[in-house]
Amino acid sequence: MKLPLPPLPAALQPKPKRPGQAERVKPLDQVKEAGISTVDWVDERTSLSGAARWTMFRKIPKGTNWFYTLGSATLFAFLSQAVTGVFLAMYYDPSVTHAYESARHITNDVFLGEFVRGMHKWGSTVMVILVCLHMARTFFFGAYKYPRELNWVIGVVLLILTFVMAFTGYLLPFDQRSYWATIVGVNINGTGPLVGPFLSDFMRGGAEFGSTTLSRFYAIHMLLLPGAIAALIGAHLYLVARLGTTAPPWLRAESGDGIREEKI
Ligand code: HEM
Repeated sequence: MKLPLPPLPAALQPKPKRPGQAERVKPLDQVKEAGISTVDWVDERTSLSGAARWTMFRKIPKGTNWFYTLGSATLFAFLSQAVTGVFLAMYYDPSVTHAYESARHITNDVFLGEFVRGMHKWGSTVMVILVCLHMARTFFFGAYKYPRELNWVIGVVLLILTFVMAFTGYLLPFDQRSYWATIVGVNINGTGPLVGPFLSDFMRGGAEFGSTTLSRFYAIHMLLLPGAIAALIGAHLYLVARLGTTAPPWLRAESGDGIREEKI
């Protein structure tokens, strides 16, 4: 179904003619009337408002409820992790001799360090819970079915990457708990069929747990995974905007004819 276009930004709309106004607007007047606000100025040069309208002004099905906000809540948790993580990286030192001390320094000495570290630590748990709830919502509402299968597959990869993010981050404080918990985690991975032993060797950076392990976990945690997750979220949201959201299953059951889109 073709959606009606929302109105153009004020600066791009043709001005109503004043009585007695000449037919042709002088180029100088056109320039004066153009960049009325910064947004209009940028839009005139990039036409980005078209993309913004395409993304944001969409019809949503009847019965959309709070469960539909779980994806955006997960996105917010990810952004919060990215921002707090940048500030932690300014002070954290991923070497086996200094990691624990640098984390302690952040908590005890750095201005707002305890707050930012707490946000990052609890935020990771919040993100894991939210991503699971969001997945449960899409599953129980049947949003994994045609034509959204690819978005479900991207979601599964996002789920795995979120777990790997939490796992690699757990080692970074480098205290007794994170050290031993990571050894247990890596050993569990090693018991997997076929790829298991290679996976645990890759994570350790060799046969033994050592200094390479910590820098490897850090690189994966703060470079590889955030980049991959951000790119996949971009693809995920593109597909959400393109395909629209699924109606709640009880509404589809009511429609009876199976052609839900006609009823929106
Ligand atoms: C970093 C993780 C994720 C983020 C930031 C995210 C974000 C979003 C957002 C904002 C939406 C649109 C609003 C909504 O329906 O809640 C959405 C929809 C969707 N997500 Fe996710 N998502 C993530 C992970 C997942 C996972 C793990 C799955 C499933 C395995 C999944 C499957 C879907 C599907 C199928 C839709 C379409 C829903 C519909 O059509 O009703 N997503 N996601």
